[in-house]
Amino acid sequence: MKKILILCGSGRRHGNSEKLADTFIKGAALHNKISKITLANKKIAPCCNCNYCQDHNGECAIKDNMQEIITALQNNDILVLCSPVYYLGFSAQLKTVIDRTYAESAIGRKIQSTILLSVSGKKDVFVSDCMINAYQQLCEYLGFQNIGIISAKGFENLNDIENSQILIDAFELGKSII
Ligand SMILES: Cc1cc2nc3c(=O)[nH]c(=O)nc-3n(C[C@H](O)[C@H](O)[C@H](O)COP(=O)(O)O)c2cc1C
Repeated sequence: MKKILILCGSGRRHGNSEKLADTFIKGAALHNKISKITLANKKIAPCCNCNYCQDHNGECAIKDNMQEIITALQNNDILVLCSPVYYLGFSAQLKTVIDRTYAESAIGRKIQSTILLSVSGKKDVFVSDCMINAYQQLCEYLGFQNIGIISAKGFENLNDIENSQILIDAFELGKSII
């Protein structure tokens, strides 16, 4: 049994990427312990590169909701990055969290494997390629092993993803993690 943390990075609740995450969770929960954090509910400021964390055992100088995410990262084996495509990359909500994990680098990362769940409004392959490339480069840079990518294309409005084949793909990916 793995411990899986899902970070939902959309600015809006119950949208396409959160539905993708929730369907992935239904599959993954069959064999694993799941934690889900919805960033739309959190107050997390950007990293200001003060380097306080590097001299203070990973403690960040900014006091906000990021501490609970660092704790969750330290208590899980697999990280799922779930994000809508915002201007060809991660949402600001998720990118801000990624930047703030700089503090975690001072104490050592526990997460070794990651998954990308992303949703774009356009069907354009160029858009999804930009997102996948950003994710793959991040894995390479931080030494994460990518264990799955679901890239949902052409879902613009709030409930567009409902009843789509890509939800079945997300369920199956979740179920495959043992
Ligand atoms: C700020 C912003 C930027 C966006 N940029 C893109 C983009 O570059 N390419 C694209 O295909 N869709 C883009 N979209 C559309 C979203 O990816 C799409 O609506 C998606 O379904 C949102 O996921 P959600 O329902 O989980 O919030 C953007 C939406 C917003 C709000």
